[in-house]
Amino acid sequence: MRQAGRYLPEYRELRESTGSFLDLCYSPSLAAEVTLQPINRFGFDAAIIFSDILVIPDALGQTVSFQEGVGPILDSLKNVNDLESLNRENIIDRLSPVYKALQITRRELPKETALIGFAGAPWTIATYMIEGGTSRDFLKTKFWAFSVPEEFDKLINILVGAITEHLIAQVESGADTIQIFDSWAGILPENEFDRWCLKPIEQIVSGVKGKHPSIPIIVFPRLAGERYIRIAEIEGVSAVSLDQTVSLGWAKKSLQSKVTLQGNLDPVYLLAGGKVMREETARILGAFNSKPFVFNLGHGVLPSTPIQHVFDLCEFIAEWRG
Ligand code: CP3
Repeated sequence: MRQAGRYLPEYRELRESTGSFLDLCYSPSLAAEVTLQPINRFGFDAAIIFSDILVIPDALGQTVSFQEGVGPILDSLKNVNDLESLNRENIIDRLSPVYKALQITRRELPKETALIGFAGAPWTIATYMIEGGTSRDFLKTKFWAFSVPEEFDKLINILVGAITEHLIAQVESGADTIQIFDSWAGILPENEFDRWCLKPIEQIVSGVKGKHPSIPIIVFPRLAGERYIRIAEIEGVSAVSLDQTVSLGWAKKSLQSKVTLQGNLDPVYLLAGGKVMREETARILGAFNSKPFVFNLGHGVLPSTPIQHVFDLCEFIAEWRG
């Protein structure tokens, strides 16, 4: 989940002295520096490269910006004709700063620290491209997908191709594993989930594995509920990241025999800190202790999280692990 960001004073300081958020994502040495900030402070077992899922629409030529207090803003796609304006050539050239950042980070990270590359899943990226940013009801995207599926399919196919290339390039630049974020996987009816979340992720996993058979792949189908099982059953998926609504007993019974689990501390426990944070962490660690488990949050670190709570959490886990 998100490790860098506004809860770290060193990030806020660096962010003030650089241009836009995307400028920072595309400055290899600064992006590497931000990636290393949480590792230097807390010594996590893995680092996630500082970038964003919206570099894909940006590389396709859509206008993307990030506004303080608002979030991402995109020049939204209105219909299938707008797909003509997307530039599918040379995605990898345009995203080359991300690959340079990975190379620098891999060189500077301790050998035992894993480096995670990532991308958004097609469905989640499509919602931002069509809604023009974050949305409450995803009405435009769902309407497009449900009413003219063959047209929506064209967008999803463009994204499957671009994301697969982007992930392969990250592996070739030093990522030890890759994570696919489907943050809005939980908003679709059953058949639509299969068509717009499950199938495209299957295609991406098979494309990446075709090139790099031994790379472990993690998928985060946020709020997918019982459909986590379908994701865990995709051939080539090594791990799934659990959001905070997944019940531990169910995940242990239904998922843990299929894949490695990661997650699912609600970020608000980290914000609250203290006893409640430790109790909930112990409950998660206790539930999954019979198999390898990657301790993580169920979503990103909240900007107002006190740094001391992150230290306390790391210390608690280290003691628990012995
Ligand atoms: O922690 C890291 O350094 C990893 C880098 C990372 C970012 N975004 C940096 C970022 C990762 C893994 C992401 C993933 C991402 N981005 C997702 C999937 C995971 C999730 O959160 O569901 C999504 C949906 C996005 C799109 C996005 N980017 C949004 C909605 C926002 C605004 C969020 C906010 O809190 O304002 C961003 C901006 C963003 N991406 C920030 C960071 C550190 C905040 C930028 C800043 O204010 O400086």
